[in-house]
Amino acid sequence: MGRQGRIAHTMSVDFNPNAAETIVDPYPGLARLRADEPMHWNPVSRAWYLTRYDDVRAGFRDKRLSADRIRPFVEAQRDGPDGEEIGFLGEHISHWAVFNDPPRHTHLRGLMNKAFTTRRVEVLRAGVAEIVDGLIADWADGDEIDFHHRFAYPLPATVIALLLGVPQEDVDHLKRWSDALAQFVLTSKTNPEKYRVAAAALKEMNAYFGDFLEQRRRDPGELVTDGLISATDEGDRLTADELTASCILLLFAGHETTTQLLANGLHALIRHPDQMADFRENRHDAKFVKNAVEELLRFDGPSLTSPRIVAKDFELHGQVAKAGQRLWLWNAAANRDPAVFEDPERLNLRRPNADRHVTFGFGVHFCIGAPLAKLEAEVAFPILLERFSRFELVKPAQDWSDSYVSRGMTSLPVRVYR
Ligand code: HEM
Repeated sequence: MGRQGRIAHTMSVDFNPNAAETIVDPYPGLARLRADEPMHWNPVSRAWYLTRYDDVRAGFRDKRLSADRIRPFVEAQRDGPDGEEIGFLGEHISHWAVFNDPPRHTHLRGLMNKAFTTRRVEVLRAGVAEIVDGLIADWADGDEIDFHHRFAYPLPATVIALLLGVPQEDVDHLKRWSDALAQFVLTSKTNPEKYRVAAAALKEMNAYFGDFLEQRRRDPGELVTDGLISATDEGDRLTADELTASCILLLFAGHETTTQLLANGLHALIRHPDQMADFRENRHDAKFVKNAVEELLRFDGPSLTSPRIVAKDFELHGQVAKAGQRLWLWNAAANRDPAVFEDPERLNLRRPNADRHVTFGFGVHFCIGAPLAKLEAEVAFPILLERFSRFELVKPAQDWSDSYVSRGMTSLPVRVYR
């Protein structure tokens, strides 16, 4: 592509992940990094950034990069003002597959894979359609709806509760706990109370899942949770802590990200009326719908970065990341790399290689919930397009969340027309 020649090792392209304009639209800044400084030391994050598609994909598979970013953080904070809360959160979260390297990751993931089967996801299709119908039933012609609160937020939470077998009347609690935990895991930039709030939520969640799992053990069925309970890996069962943590991980991971796929997706479609029209016309064509969802995931999906810790010195583009430093794989930048995606800044629901995006990561940690998230979007968008002839933004979307790792809004007011 001839772009290697443009790298200047001493150059530093300004990119402030906390700046308001970056939070609203990170893509121009990421494009500058990708073109001019593909291995970038960011003084604000105190982390290396990789932004090119090939580098990000290779990074996901590189054994010198560890997914265990919680333990070093907890160690560093142990004696700080929030040390107790962080220690408690870290202890639990150290059982999450996503924060473990092989061989422990292989053990945790293997057991989750056995429980989280395609069949257990596919049977939810009709149930998802019913939930979608219920959520939009009372939207009248010309109503102003906060699409985030009224649709994108409740749908995944309700679906994941269905998948895990948690009673629907508990969904509000689960959402509240999950949001509080997100302040810790998805690293809010601005909330000073985040550790206290997250630790309190986790205590309640632990107690809740303890009871819930006990009850399912007595009266097992066909749910993912039952699969987790009975899963064995050459006799290597999940411990009680791992089991609770794996349920909480599924609940948590299956939740906010999918909300963002739905809201960012509708937002992108509203801003591209030709694409919205194409989607509407082809909403019954399953193949078209699948590709459209892949493109929405690529174009403005819920993943910004996947953080890693450098376990062994890592050299790339003439720079060296030292063991112990942080390195972030920028999924959102890879997804708009012109070396892979033609005219990458354009939303094109018919893009032939849309599914090469890395929104679900890559390698051993590839998102276990990808089929479920896609199923929800594949069901939701055609129904929305069937019931409503037009969606209008009430104002430009400005309530973007301040997370480092995920991209989404906290509200999306739209007007809907029958
Ligand atoms: C892992 C994104 C939905 C459960 C991941 C990773 C990404 C991701 C990027 C890899 C993280 C890393 O390598 O550090 C997404 C997006 C979603 C979504 C964008 C929605 C559009 C879901 C759902 C579930 C789920 C619905 C569960 C029901 C998980 C789990 C992992 C994971 C358990 C850890 C896998 C492992 O470490 O082996 N997800 N996810 N995700 N995701 Fe998702």
